[in-house]
Amino acid sequence: MKKPLTIALPKGRLFEQVQEHFYNKGIEFSFEKRKLVAYDNKGLLKIFLVKNSDLPAYVAHGIAGLGVCGEDVVYETGYSFYNVLPFSFGGTKLCMAAMKDYKSDSKETHMTIATSFTDYTRDYFHKQGIPVKIIKLNGSVELAPVLGLAPYIVDLVETGSTLKANNLEVLRTLTDIKVNMIANRAYYKFHYEAINELADILREN
Ligand code: PRP
Repeated sequence: MKKPLTIALPKGRLFEQVQEHFYNKGIEFSFEKRKLVAYDNKGLLKIFLVKNSDLPAYVAHGIAGLGVCGEDVVYETGYSFYNVLPFSFGGTKLCMAAMKDYKSDSKETHMTIATSFTDYTRDYFHKQGIPVKIIKLNGSVELAPVLGLAPYIVDLVETGSTLKANNLEVLRTLTDIKVNMIANRAYYKFHYEAINELADILREN
């Protein structure tokens, strides 16, 4: 019997969507309580459950040959992967937002922005010649304007309910974020037949 392909999947809200998509394509798996390694019903995959932001490191170092990951997370880590397959689920937007009644101070020499996506945000505004000061946060970014840490945030917006609940509004969309199945480039070269077979199973019609 062939050795299973190794794949890292992200914990959190994307996990259930990945699990459901794989299930609909006949690949079933679940993680026993607190376990972080599982196998699927077909013996195709050895699956590692990892923190979203750590996923690219596992794939880049070849611990997992494959991964399912948003483009935002890949960008922040700076790694480069082979994109095997795009998925239509899990897509979000990276947006800049502020309090609904916020009026910018005309004396501001730069915009202060709180975000987890520091590299993308800095690159985006620098390319436009807009000076920014970035404050790195790891979560609950929407609190920053509410508490006065920074007037602006750049964060993922999916349904918009977190912004709404905190009286924030989108000022601009920086980019759409897609979720892809990524591969370590060397791993892909060695396992391209099995990986392409997997991609054929998982491809959306
Ligand atoms: C993400 C993101 C926003 C929220 C957007 O946070 O950072 O806070 O989801 O989703 P919505 O538009 O559907 O409300 P997540 O729940 O992953 O936690 P975090 O705040 O710790 O990043």
